[in-house]
Amino acid sequence: MHAVILAGGKGTRLRPLTVYTPKPAVPIVNRAFLLYQVEMLRRAGIDEITLSLSYQPDKIEQILGDGAELGVNLRFITEPSPLGTGGAYRFAADGIDDTTVVLNGDILTDLDLAALIEAHRTRGAAATLALKPVEDPSRYGLVVTREDGTIENFLEKPTRESISDLPSNTINAGIYVLEPSIMDLVPLGENRSFEYDVFPVILERGLPFYGYTMDHEYWRDIGVPESYLNANLDMLSGRLKGFAAQPNGDADIATAAAIDSRSRFAAGVVVKPGAKILNSVLGPGVQIGEKTVIEDSVIWAHTRVASGAEVSGAVIGRSCHIGRNATIRPGSVLGDKSQLTDYTKV
Ligand code: GTP
Repeated sequence: MHAVILAGGKGTRLRPLTVYTPKPAVPIVNRAFLLYQVEMLRRAGIDEITLSLSYQPDKIEQILGDGAELGVNLRFITEPSPLGTGGAYRFAADGIDDTTVVLNGDILTDLDLAALIEAHRTRGAAATLALKPVEDPSRYGLVVTREDGTIENFLEKPTRESISDLPSNTINAGIYVLEPSIMDLVPLGENRSFEYDVFPVILERGLPFYGYTMDHEYWRDIGVPESYLNANLDMLSGRLKGFAAQPNGDADIATAAAIDSRSRFAAGVVVKPGAKILNSVLGPGVQIGEKTVIEDSVIWAHTRVASGAEVSGAVIGRSCHIGRNATIRPGSVLGDKSQLTDYTKV
């Protein structure tokens, strides 16, 4: 069985984090995001995985290698120009004559893919979409299903005002099971979107098209900074089932520093006396000065936070320098190589 991971988007909403790091490679608790997806696929017995790339493809290939260490076969396909989600699937899946699982490369979930595939097969579906009920569907495409699970229609990104009148609160979760016949609906090499171009045609043709609602599973797309941060914090709190906690690296932590048991740190981290690290992630080589407090935050590799600084609810990119006694407040997102002078407040 095959899978295609759509990992070629520019990730504009996750800027500045995606300026130097493509979205599928951003670290979640010190591990490249795509590795969680690969693990989920492997758990469902899928070991032939095609990565559909367009933006910064080399960085993704470098991080993942050939997949041997991960116990899967990875194939990388780079589009000559971005083809959109549907076009990218068609391009990457060309020649695959088997049922294929397609994942948006920005979905963190503990969905049991084997159960999704089983439902797809039992119903004899041509296409099955995983659906997730959410409170605020305004960022997403809504999917309306009938009682028998077949898909009735799609409503793309409804306005907040219209939400109370909507017939459903289940959104397209960005996880699909598709029969090879779906490829016939997408011209090879052309830009197409699943949501706007491919799914409406499946409906029009009257093909067996089902939704599979994820009522209890964890699901989050990491496409905006707030949800990227929350994905890390959810992983720290153990909300996702089936993913082992990332082990701490070999680090130099002062005995007079306090790191709570939830926080995770990578190799080469230095934490000076009097510092407090609470519910946070420190990437490789991060240095934390004396009496600095880091809370509910994610700090990428090789960033230095000088003494007396306070960082709360923030994401700080690679190789930044945060000056002494600086305050970084909740919601802040600093791109790679940011420099904050002493006493700065953001
Ligand atoms: P934004 O720019 O922030 O909207 O993010 P994005 O570029 O990732 O777009 P979006 O979140 O809509 O994409 C959903 C998934 O499809 C992501 O995993 C993207 O990597 C992927 N994707 C989007 N467009 C393309 C494309 O043209 N080619 C490929 N290969 N993947 C794509």
